[in-house]
Amino acid sequence: MIRVFENADLSGRNSFHVAQRAARLIEFDKASELPEIFGQHAPERWTVLSGGNNILFTRDYDGTLLTPCGNNIEISSDDGENVIVGVEAGVEWDDLVEWAVGRGLWGIENLSLIPGKVGAAPVQNIGAYGAEAKDAIRSVTMYFPEQNNFITLAAEHCAFGYRESVFKHSLKGRVIITSVEMRLNRTPKPNLGYGDVVREVEARGGATLRNIRDAICSIRRSKLPDPAVTGNAGSFFKNPVVEIAVAERLQAEYPGMPMYPVAESGKVKLASGWLIDKAGLKGYREGNVGVHDRQALVLINTGGATGGEVIEFAHMVQRRVMEKFGIEIDTEVNIL
Ligand code: EPU
Repeated sequence: MIRVFENADLSGRNSFHVAQRAARLIEFDKASELPEIFGQHAPERWTVLSGGNNILFTRDYDGTLLTPCGNNIEISSDDGENVIVGVEAGVEWDDLVEWAVGRGLWGIENLSLIPGKVGAAPVQNIGAYGAEAKDAIRSVTMYFPEQNNFITLAAEHCAFGYRESVFKHSLKGRVIITSVEMRLNRTPKPNLGYGDVVREVEARGGATLRNIRDAICSIRRSKLPDPAVTGNAGSFFKNPVVEIAVAERLQAEYPGMPMYPVAESGKVKLASGWLIDKAGLKGYREGNVGVHDRQALVLINTGGATGGEVIEFAHMVQRRVMEKFGIEIDTEVNIL
């Protein structure tokens, strides 16, 4: 089923709750409806609006937003150990995690409670608590309007990296992800190395799938604002990857500064939340926008902010971090 909304109000469709509008918004239930949508409605300018959890509209969108609504989860093979699952783009990510945990399937439990839909997960390779979606993604299926065909890309060809993928680069604006194939498994593989996870899991009685999911949900709830209550898009900035020499110079000055190893040689990742916090901005507010008081990486709409106000505030945060540390922090959120 295809549903077309003209001059659509986006305030209920983005987690920042900004009240921009789109010239047209089309919801569709089945991937097979996309050729019809492009044939009949021939949108000249379009983009995908999935759950709206990682997007900031800074102005009205003068084109067509496409929202996949298919929400089927289907096991395609099960050899007793590995279970391959096909998931439509419109499934809520956390519903998929609950589905997997409920069936004793390991692989995505550390990604519990990440807001957003499955179709958006590969785009920025969502990650948390030492796990990334790429570790469980087997392939991604998408529609290519230019060629009016569907393509399935194996994970090895998705150029996944830290909050990175081919969907943010050469395929940006060219494809609509319609489903994702995941590889889950039955052998327990607890991944408890990050922050408070071990302690929270032990407090619940040990490393079962359910305890890990509950622990992660509880940690997230204690630090991150609930988008249903306070407008936000999770981490607004990426953690910067810098030369080791730069990080060591800063660590000499700030001995407690956290840094994390990355695959790229000669580089390390710093924590933007820490940099923003130490720049004195945690909990800081200006008008209707603020830095969250329990996690400085998150910007919040305290009520009635426009996208323009949020982006101006974000630029101020970037300037302050640059002035204090000489480090550039990039936005993680997709700015439209
Ligand atoms: N920190 C501070 N002050 C703050 C926030 C953080 O000092 O206000 C310090 C922490 O104490 C810690 C370090 O910075 O030493 C890192 O903080 P944290 O472990 O909370 O993680 P993060 O790097 O700030 C990343 C992801 C989150 C994810 C967490 C947990 C990015 C951009 N963000 O945040 O993802 O939940 O790790 O794995 O990589 C999201 O993408 O929307 C998101 C919430």
